[in-house]
Amino acid sequence: MTDTKTAVHSAWSSRFAFILAATGSAVGLGNIWKFPYITGENGGGAFVLVYLLCVLVIGIPIMIAETMLGRHSQKNPIDAMAYLTKEAQADSNWHYLGWMGVIAGLLILSYYSVIAGWATAYVLKAFTGSFYVDNPAEIKTLFDDFVASPVQLIFWHTLFMLATMLIVVRGVNNGLEKAVQYLMPVLFFLMLLLVGYAMTTGSYFQGLHFLFSPDFSKLTANAVLTAMGHAFFTLSLGMGAIMVYGSYLPKDVSIAKTAVLIAGADTVVALLAGIAIFPIVFANNLHPDSGPGLIFQTLPIAFGSMSGGWLVGILFFVMLVVAALTSSISLIEPAVAWLVESKGFTRERACVWSGLATWALGLGTVLSFNAWSEVKFFERTIFQLLDYLTANLMLPIGGFCIAIFAGWMMQQKHSIAELAMPNDLSYQVWKLLISYVAPAAVFFVFLHVIGVL
Ligand code: TRP
Repeated sequence: MTDTKTAVHSAWSSRFAFILAATGSAVGLGNIWKFPYITGENGGGAFVLVYLLCVLVIGIPIMIAETMLGRHSQKNPIDAMAYLTKEAQADSNWHYLGWMGVIAGLLILSYYSVIAGWATAYVLKAFTGSFYVDNPAEIKTLFDDFVASPVQLIFWHTLFMLATMLIVVRGVNNGLEKAVQYLMPVLFFLMLLLVGYAMTTGSYFQGLHFLFSPDFSKLTANAVLTAMGHAFFTLSLGMGAIMVYGSYLPKDVSIAKTAVLIAGADTVVALLAGIAIFPIVFANNLHPDSGPGLIFQTLPIAFGSMSGGWLVGILFFVMLVVAALTSSISLIEPAVAWLVESKGFTRERACVWSGLATWALGLGTVLSFNAWSEVKFFERTIFQLLDYLTANLMLPIGGFCIAIFAGWMMQQKHSIAELAMPNDLSYQVWKLLISYVAPAAVFFVFLHVIGVL
């Protein structure tokens, strides 16, 4: 029994392993698929600026807080919140926060896996060379035909969920650590290569201009919310993923430094993706607001026309799938850890049940791109609704609560001890950001969206 207990709540082998896993969780489809298309839909520069600001004043402090809550409690998010609530003698309703996180993770994974399935299918397309047609319109048709087929989407979604569960079954040390180690450098190198290609398109500066010169007249209240929600999404915050990873973190590691490093790496990957994609968009007269298909319609053009593009294309989509895998495991890990640690499930059984539920839910997203594309709730397809509900509502609300809990509920002696910033200036800065700035920012964005401000 003791044996299984220690095996259940495992630990990273080092600080480096945690950095790799947390970076693996952060860097994923959010950076390479989602960031470019939502930037395109929301007008570019001003949106990017708000997103960067949110990463800085909301994302990093909350990442520190979430890691801290995980390491302090040494538990999965549901049990962690129950334990922390008791320790802080706070209202027992706080423990629902853990629940919301577990649910948000599964909801996100249900559509994340469908999109990751697209990326998996594109590995095959890159191999067979089927998307190397010269003309951008045909590449778009190819994509449109692909997403119009529920059978194909279900096949790839199933494959991706299976892969996720296989890794999660093996637990943190075996499955997760190794996957990320080689991925990050290669992914980074490929992004640089694509940026190099973007420079040759003739629209490089137009792309940069779109990304970095803010036009605030394009910034609607909902764009601000989307930018803020994306800061949470891309850093994997607000639902306990980083909490659960933090719980595996050795005690002697500086949480603050690590968080800054991870957020920095994540932001660089997203910006590189943007810098690579928008010049291609403009050079080929495509539309920045093409939606979720954006990278699948633009990058094949680059692979088709750069020398050695065939190989780069294969490598790129393989890397994208691996990046998605290192993120998807963190979306399901809180649920699995909870089933194992407090419901007595074996790791296998926990993976099967949470995986199955997520897979079934994912069918809704699959169909929202074809058979059910006209089925709308609040003017949104199932995919759009799930995305809005999780990224724009659940994550910011979760993050807000985490900030309030870390800043106001948890006793200061505990946060000081965990953060090892003995009442010095950097601790004061964090404390100010987490107690006032971050929660107020989230609150004002919500007020702005509902039209009060
Ligand atoms: N951050 C990942 C990405 O950008 C997605 C992700 C993984 C996530 N774990 C998460 C998002 C937890 C929110 C919460 O692709």
